[in-house]
Amino acid sequence: MLKIVDGSKSYNHNDKIINVLQPFNLLIEKGEFVAIRGKSGSGKSTLLHILGCMDQLTTGDYYFNDNKLSTNKDNTLAKFRGKHFGFVFQAYHLIKEFTALQNVEAPMAYMHTPRKLRRERALALLSQVGLEDKVNFYPKQLSGGQQQRVAIARALANQPDVIFADEPTGNLDRDNGNKIISLLCELHRQGTTLVMVTHDGDLGKIADRSIHLVDGHIKS
Ligand SMILES: Nc1ncnc2c1ncn2[C@@H]1O[C@H](COP(=O)(O)OP(=O)(O)OP(=O)(O)O)[C@@H](O)[C@H]1O
Ligand SMILES: [Mg+2]
Repeated sequence: MLKIVDGSKSYNHNDKIINVLQPFNLLIEKGEFVAIRGKSGSGKSTLLHILGCMDQLTTGDYYFNDNKLSTNKDNTLAKFRGKHFGFVFQAYHLIKEFTALQNVEAPMAYMHTPRKLRRERALALLSQVGLEDKVNFYPKQLSGGQQQRVAIARALANQPDVIFADEPTGNLDRDNGNKIISLLCELHRQGTTLVMVTHDGDLGKIADRSIHLVDGHIKS
């Protein structure tokens, strides 16, 4: 489903080339749960951002279901992302001026889902993550674990094919972290492809497969 051929990523920083991801090939099948692991600075987020089309490869090609994406224009990619991908970040990234309900509705508004359907679906998703009694709360009125559950509901809004999560439990205590992981595992059981960056070795074990990053080299 996701395929990178001869990919690499480097940055030009003060006229020096920094090779963050050495040339690699990668295939992620539909329905897989893949953990991305490695030390801080090893390129995990960079790889996740490339897979999620938030960043582009320096060399190589990226295919989604055999469609080549790497040459797409930014605005086409944004629509593509909105339709096929959902994102969960360590720091939640909710819109602070929006309630939980409005945060979950936002990606559907972007895809022009009719207002009534948006509302119904957002309410159903918030109830799926156990927040039916918090729909009108703003992010600052919610705990970290609750904010992350809103973020997961938001990631699911457009029924994505793939969920990308970058250390989704990084800011949470063990108990809340476990709840988030159970939720993500449940989504995976229901068929969602899941790609998750994690520092936590235990989480790596519950994934179908781990990708290890060592000094910019990808070892599957
Ligand atoms: N825009 C940029 N310009 C130059 N270097 C960058 C840029 N973005 C990232 N890097 C470098 O790429 C490397 C990998 O960064 P990345 O954020 O992918 O690491 P990470 O594995 O996610 O680390 P962490 O576990 O701390 O989140 C780092 O050395 C970083 O300095
Ligand atoms: Mg990172």
